[in-house]
Order: sequence, then structure tokens, then C-alpha cells
Amino acid sequence: MDSEKKQAILFVDDEESILSVASEYFQRKGYQTLTARTGPEALKILANETVDCCFTDINMPDMNGLELAERIRTHDNTMPVIVMTGYPSLENAIQTIKNGVVDFLIKPVDLKQMELCVQRVMQQRKMLVENVLLKKEVEGKRRLRKVNQELLVKVKELNILNKIMKKFAAISSSTDVFKRAVDIALDISRADHTHIYVINEAVQQPVKVSSSSAESACGAVSSGGKTAYEDPQTPSTANPKPLRAALIMEVVSDQIPLLISENKKNNGLPAEISSAMIVPLQIRDKVFGVITAIVYQGSKRFAEKDLYYLSFLAQSAAQAIENLALYENIYENLFATLYAFVKAVEARDLYTRLHSSRVTGLSIVLGKQLGCSKEELDILNFAGHLHDIGKIGIRDDILLKPGRLTDDEFEKIKDHPVIGANILEQLGLWERERQIIRCHHERFDGSGYPDGIKQQDIPFLARILSVADVYDAMASDRAYRKKMEDSVIIKIINEGDGTQFDPEVVAAFNQAFKAGRITQYMKTGEI
Ligand SMILES: [Fe+2]
Repeated sequence: MDSEKKQAILFVDDEESILSVASEYFQRKGYQTLTARTGPEALKILANETVDCCFTDINMPDMNGLELAERIRTHDNTMPVIVMTGYPSLENAIQTIKNGVVDFLIKPVDLKQMELCVQRVMQQRKMLVENVLLKKEVEGKRRLRKVNQELLVKVKELNILNKIMKKFAAISSSTDVFKRAVDIALDISRADHTHIYVINEAVQQPVKVSSSSAESACGAVSSGGKTAYEDPQTPSTANPKPLRAALIMEVVSDQIPLLISENKKNNGLPAEISSAMIVPLQIRDKVFGVITAIVYQGSKRFAEKDLYYLSFLAQSAAQAIENLALYENIYENLFATLYAFVKAVEARDLYTRLHSSRVTGLSIVLGKQLGCSKEELDILNFAGHLHDIGKIGIRDDILLKPGRLTDDEFEKIKDHPVIGANILEQLGLWERERQIIRCHHERFDGSGYPDGIKQQDIPFLARILSVADVYDAMASDRAYRKKMEDSVIIKIINEGDGTQFDPEVVAAFNQAFKAGRITQYMKTGEI
């Protein structure tokens, strides 16, 4: 810090825990801190003390954060006020500009983020104060306008981030939350290693899902290099044993954070670990995992305060995971509803019953053969089940017609990929899956429908689904014919190599068939 006098930060929040954690953290970083639980209390402090920067919550009784910001501005228009909110909205964002707020952070806010924010706004304030003092009112106002303009940009950015966040919630997994949590835990506790374990209920054992590690500064453990955020299982033979599973399970059943400051004999720690913390992760009353921090060597020992920080972090992480789970649930419900429609369509026709389910299974067999990622297999699973959902929009007399279709009727049937893609588009979801549904009747040589696109323009997963779809159609009885012999089907699929189908997928199909995986799936449903 460049001034000899400590910079003072005022924290205003009606949650005691936030005040004390933030206050502790910033004191350790060399700031003077002041706290207030309400707006009026904050104003009282401001009247009597010198404050350089203020963090305030938005939702508080008596006076909300935006009113407080407005009052501060009339009192001292150079003081940076940072608003922290759980629910950023455009209205709030616009209001904050009017009230002279210089920045705002989305809750749960991590301490590092707050610190960076303080450094930034202090710098801005310094410039602002210099401007006001040295270059008179006019110049100062110009600067203020500039700050406001910057804020407008920030608001825009925030809105975009907010949108992305909402979208991300659909695809991002709990894994991201875990990774973030172990990284922050490592930072705040200055541990050598932090881990998150999730409890496998069936076997009552912890399973490691994420970890973060810092370079050990000295001695035998030191392996050199920079801070490594990697899986500790792989890197170092020098890294000693992790915590014993039994110790973790004890914390899980007690539901109480455990602090072992000093490794004395019989406390359950391996000899290599000198200090450890284990904090349960729980949603409502249920413990689903733990976050752990360990120190191997050196003088660092965890204290009560470290345990307090780690518990606070565990709470935030669990909250984020719960939110994610709720979100995932909504998506699962929506998927279940859509698939129920597909089954209803299939049920009308004895011959297509379970067709979508089999096409999904076959696509996954082929996807695995082609080395698809887990994410791609998930997309295939989704798109496979719903690929014919557009048939819901086709009249029964055409859809269920036992004989061959007339040209006109066939044209109607050809609408189903577009109808299906439109259904998903209206929900504004599942972009990649939507493309696959739209393209599952495209042909590799461009003679398919609805768009007549070819080769690489057809999404790869749609090219896989197309082979699975045709295989199942031929391998099942139809109203107008019996199912075909495998040898005939294979011949037909290979005749389509490069015209109807992607050669790469046909090759994978041939391999999977030779290995018996297709027949096994059709007979047993096993992939
Ligand atoms: Fe189809």
C-alpha cells in the first residue's frame, strides 16, 4: 500500500457473518475496517470517521443500499461505494449509476474479488481526488462523467455476464463449482492441498472430485515449479498420503467441522500431514461431501479462524451446488415431458414403439466406437430420444398409414425434423441437440432433407444418428414388411457409404457390428 496511513473500508450488511469475515480478511491485508449493520448506522460512522471506501449490501431493513449510496454521495461525492447484490437487475444497475455507485459485485462474493475491487476503486478515487483538487470543479465533473460512462459499460458487461450465467447454468456442472471452491480454499487457508470429496452412499466412502495444490516451499516435499492446480494423485510421488477415509466419514456422520491444528499421535492423521481441516458440505440437513485442507510441512498450523473461513466457503459452495441441482432438475423435468410426447407418438403405432429409445442406444454404441466425449454422448442421448418429436405435428392418417405413402404424404412426413427443431427452438434451449434433430434426415451427399446440406456441414452427431435411425427402421417389423436380415441391412448401409452416410460412421458401424456390439444391444439393451 502506498500511503503510510491505513486505508479505511466500511462494510454495511445486515448479515453479521459477512461483516466479520470481510472485516477479518481485510484487516489481515492491512486495511482498517469498520462495520455497520444498517444504513443509518453507516451514516453515523461516516459522520465521525474517515472512510476511504464503502461496500454495501442492497437489501437491508431501514435503508437499502442504493439509498445509502445516494446519501453518501451528497456527503462525499468522491467516496467509492460498491454494491453487493444477489440479484443483479437492469433496474438496479441503472439506479446505481444515478446514485454514484462505482462498481457492483454479484453475491456470493469472494474475498479476493472484493480485494481486487478495492484496489481498483481506490486507484480511481485517487485520480478523482487529484482531479477535483487540482483541476477545479469543471474538470472534476468531467472525470465524474467519465467514471459514470465507465460504469455504464460495466453495467452492460454485467448484463451480458448475467445472461451468460443463466445460460451456463444449463450446461455447467457441479464440477466447476467444486474446482472454484478448492482454489479459493487454497488461497484463503494457505494450505498445501485442498480437496473436495463427495460421499458415495452405496459404499459409504468418500470419492475425490476436485483438488487444488500449492507448491510446498521447503524440504523433501518441494518439487519445484509454480503453483500447480492439478490432481494431486498424479503429480508427486513426494506428496504424502491423503486423509484417511474413516476420518472423513466421521466428520460426515457428526456433521461438525473438524480442526486438527497439530498432528499428535492417535489423532488419525498420517505422519506426513502436520495440520488439517475437514468441513462438511451440506444442502439443507444432508451432508453430501466434505472440503478438506491440509498442510504437510513447515510452520503453518490451521487455527479456529481458518476453520471459520473454510466453513463459510463450504456454505457458499453448497448453496451454488443446490442452485445448480435445482436448475438441472428443471431441465430434466422438461426433457421428461418432451420424451413423454415422443412415447405418445410412438405408442400410436405398434411398429415404432421404442424406436427412439433403440436409436439412442445404437447411436451411443456408434458414438463410443468413434471415441465421442462424455458430453457428446450426453447430447446423443438427448437428441436420440427426441429426434422424431416433430412427428407430433403430422396427421395420424399419414403417420399411421400401413402401405406406401404418396408423394404428397411423404412431403408432409418430411416436415418432422423442422417441426421438431422448432419445438426446441421455442423453448430457447439445447442448441446443439436442436441442430441434430433438424439434420437427422440429411444425407452425406446433400440429397437429404430438410436443407440438403452435405458432408461436414451436417453436424457429426447427426451423421451418427442417421445410421442408427436407418438401421433400427430396417431391423424392426413394419406394417407393410417384416424386419430385414442383418446381412441385408449391412449390405444396404454399406451401399450408402459416402452417399447417404458418412464413411467414417459406416466404418465404425461395421467395426461395432463385427465386435457383436450392435447385436448385443438389440438383444439385451446393453451398451
Ligand atoms: Fe425421423
